[in-house]
Amino acid sequence: MNESLDMTADASPAPAAAQNVNPNAPTAETVLEVEHYTDRLFRFRITRPRSFRFRTGEFVMIGLPKEDGRPLLRAYSIASPAWDEELEFYSIKVPDGPLTSRLCNIQPGDKVLLGKKPTGTLVLDALTPGKRLYMFSTGTGFAPFASLVRDPDTYERYEEVIVTHTCRENAELTYSQNLINDLVNDPLVGEMVQGKLRLYTTCTREDHPRMGRITTLIENGKLFEDLGVPPLDPACDRAMICGSMEMIQDTKNLMIAAGLTEGSNSAPAEFVIEKAFAG
Ligand SMILES: Cc1cc2nc3c(=O)[nH]c(=O)nc-3n(C[C@H](O)[C@H](O)[C@H](O)COP(=O)(O)OP(=O)(O)OC[C@H]3O[C@@H](n4cnc5c(N)ncnc54)[C@H](O)[C@@H]3O)c2cc1C
Ligand SMILES: NC(=O)c1ccc[n+]([C@@H]2O[C@H](COP(=O)([O-])OP(=O)(O)OC[C@H]3O[C@@H](n4cnc5c(N)ncnc54)[C@H](OP(=O)(O)O)[C@@H]3O)[C@@H](O)[C@H]2O)c1
Repeated sequence: MNESLDMTADASPAPAAAQNVNPNAPTAETVLEVEHYTDRLFRFRITRPRSFRFRTGEFVMIGLPKEDGRPLLRAYSIASPAWDEELEFYSIKVPDGPLTSRLCNIQPGDKVLLGKKPTGTLVLDALTPGKRLYMFSTGTGFAPFASLVRDPDTYERYEEVIVTHTCRENAELTYSQNLINDLVNDPLVGEMVQGKLRLYTTCTREDHPRMGRITTLIENGKLFEDLGVPPLDPACDRAMICGSMEMIQDTKNLMIAAGLTEGSNSAPAEFVIEKAFAG
C-alpha cells in the first residue's frame, strides 16, 4: 500500500458528487489503448484533459472507483512526455493488489480516474547541467524514463543519454526495448536520439547477453567498459534513479561514492531519485 504517501484518497468524496464541488477531485478519462507484455506488466493510454499540465518525468495519482463510488488511487509515473496529447502509463499487475487486480482488465472505452496534481523529482530541472545523463531503472521504474527519452529537452541538455533497465526476466524488458528501438522513427526526437541515446538492458534471473544487477555492473566497472565511457564523474555525469527502495538506496550509495550529490526541485544537483513503488 502507498500509505506513507497518504495519497490513496480513500477519504475523498465520490467523484460523481465531487466533480461539482471539489476542484481537486480526479477526472474520469477514457482508455484509448491497452497492451499487455507479460502476466505482470502492461501499458495503457488515456485521454488527457486540456487543462492537465505536467513536467516530463513526473508522477500523478490514477485509479478506479471503488464499489462505494469513492476513488481508489495510486501513484503512477506518466510514461508519455509533456508534449503528448494523450497520457501513457506502464503498470505492474499485482494479483491481489487493490488497484491493479482490477486495472489490468481495462479495455478501450473504459474510464480511468486521473488526479490533478502531478509532481516528482525525476525532472530535468532538478539536475545541474552536465554532459552525460544516466537513467538507472529496474522493473516499472523505467516508466518515468519512457517519458524523458521522448522529450526533445533531454537531448538539448545532454550530449549523451544512457538508460539502463534491469529486470528479472527477458520478457520484462519488452516495453523499454520496443519504445527505444522505435524512437529513431519518431517525428519529434527521431533525429536527436541518433548517436545520443543508448539503452543498456540486463537480466538477473534468466539468460541475457548482459547479466546482473546494475549496482554490481557499476561497482565492477562492466557498465562503463561495455559502453566505452569513463567511470562516473561529478564534473560531467548526471543521474536519475527509479526502482525499488533497496535498488534506489544501493544505487544512490554508488553515486555518492563517485562524488555526486543528490538534488531536488528546490536544490538541483547531480543525481535525483524516485521510488517505483512503496513497500
Ligand atoms: C512515486 C511512485 C510512482 C509509481 N509509479 C508506478 C508506475 O509507473 N507503474 C506502476 O506499475 N506502479 C507505480 N507505482 C506503484 C503504484 O503506486 C501501486 O503500488 C501499484 O499500482 C500497485 O497497486 P495495487 O493497489 O494493485 O497494490 P499495492 O497495495 O499498491 O501494492 C501491493 C504490493 O505490490 C508490490 N508493488 C506495487 N507496485 C509495484 C511495482 N510497480 N512494481 C513491483 N512491485 C510492485 C509492492 O510489494 C506492494 O507492497 C508507483 C509508486 C510510487 C510511490
Ligand atoms: N510471476 C510472479 O509472480 C513474480 C515475478 C517476479 C516478481 N514478483 C514479485 O513482484 C515484486 C516486484 O518484483 P520486480 O521484479 O518487479 O521488482 P524487483 O524485485 O525490484 O526486481 C527488479 C530487478 O531489480 C533488481 N534488484 C532488486 N534489488 C536490487 C538492488 N538492491 N539493487 C539493484 N538491483 C536490484 C532485481 O534483481 P534480482 O533478481 O537480483 O533481485 C531485478 O532484476 C516482488 O515482490 C516479487 O516477489 C512476482
